[in-house]
Amino acid sequence: MAVDQVLADGLGGILSGDEWTVEREELEAYGHDETEDLSFLPEVVVRPKDPGAVPAILELAHRLKVPVTPRGGGTGLSGGALPVRGGIVLSLDRCDRILEIDTGNMVAVVEPGVITQVLQEEVERVGLYYPPDPASRGSCTIGGNLAENAGGPHAVKYGVTSDYVMGLEVVLANGKVLHCGGARRKDVAGYDLAKLFVGSEGTLGIITRATLRLVPQPEERAVLLASFSSLRSGLDGVLAVFKGLTPSACELLERDAVEAAARHLGRPVPVPGAEALIVMEVDGFTRDDVERQMVTAGERLEAAGAVDVRVAMTRKEREELWALRAATGEAVKAISTYKEEDCSVPRSRIGELVMGVKEIARRAGIRTICYGHAGDGNIHVNILRMDADEATWRDRLPAVIEEIFSLTVKLGGSITGEHGIGWTQRRYLPLQLGPVEMETLKAIKDALDPDAILNPGKIFPG
Ligand code: LAC
Ligand code: ZN
Repeated sequence: MAVDQVLADGLGGILSGDEWTVEREELEAYGHDETEDLSFLPEVVVRPKDPGAVPAILELAHRLKVPVTPRGGGTGLSGGALPVRGGIVLSLDRCDRILEIDTGNMVAVVEPGVITQVLQEEVERVGLYYPPDPASRGSCTIGGNLAENAGGPHAVKYGVTSDYVMGLEVVLANGKVLHCGGARRKDVAGYDLAKLFVGSEGTLGIITRATLRLVPQPEERAVLLASFSSLRSGLDGVLAVFKGLTPSACELLERDAVEAAARHLGRPVPVPGAEALIVMEVDGFTRDDVERQMVTAGERLEAAGAVDVRVAMTRKEREELWALRAATGEAVKAISTYKEEDCSVPRSRIGELVMGVKEIARRAGIRTICYGHAGDGNIHVNILRMDADEATWRDRLPAVIEEIFSLTVKLGGSITGEHGIGWTQRRYLPLQLGPVEMETLKAIKDALDPDAILNPGKIFPG
């Protein structure tokens, strides 16, 4: 694909030859993320080694009015990193330095390309913990997590990415550099700009540095696996554990999800015949405390109808259960083309949500697989295409999704808990946000990116 000569000359003046490419293979590799089977070709892929180059890149893009689609690990599930209008894919994956781990202030200062798991392992060495843990934590980046405000299983106790952001350096659409927050715990000088950029999906600015809050690493953990003879009783089990107890994770998987994940990993199903499984973790600082929490949780789960509760006390057993859970998304994807929904409701409404989704799917004659972070009210609803023809899939699907999202909103929920609106969910956003909310989002977007060069085509319908 021919790149405009002015753009090529401009990039050549900012970057070394191995920091940008127009090779077809590379354009294709950076033209998709993990979202369904979608792919768009950019004109150029830019991968600076130093975030210091980003202001000049943006200044150039701004001057030439070229779209810029920022990218981290490319693991997104709503198409946030898809270059839907071509232009530049700006991948920050090489800007991967951990600049500081400050144990006194319990903060880490990082570049955006740091892999989430790498940061977690580094801070663990000094007894600290960075909790946000998307299933893709081995390959996603902090920059991508910030852009999408990623969550994960531990959000139920520890919160999501935005709960750990203390400061950001952001390059604005015109190339100017904005600093907000820092290692200070308290700061109410002006608007909380850091929170504004977190979750803005690359549409307001490019994050080039982050100061992140850390907490003490819990020294003890235990995981249990509870099985249920119906999905309904599994959902009741989720609610039962939360009376005076906050598990560090409380995940629910329906039978099809468990079977898919086990098959994908070439492992036996943990409890054959179970219609639902809960994978629950508790953590703490003493063995006694963790054991006490486990006993309480086990009793509550049994009272709620669990047919079997097993405790995995060793690290290996725990890791096997988490591997099964983390593989679920990919495993479901391997069954069929699918559409991923990410419904989030107040925890108390989780039963109504999941049973309602199942009823909507039954009436529509479509197959869904549900699993996810039931303890915090966030369930992934995967709608499988199976053998539906193109017309049926394309024409009937939106109405089914609308029905699922209308139910979610009616239950006080959100149409996305952690995956973002991105490209695939934008037509549904007005189901949740009214005209005043949409106008406010648009006013912010117009103020910060008047030429709409930053991740165009995302979030806003149309
Ligand atoms: C998960 C991803 C899909 O929870 O969010 O597995
Ligand atoms: Zn998830």
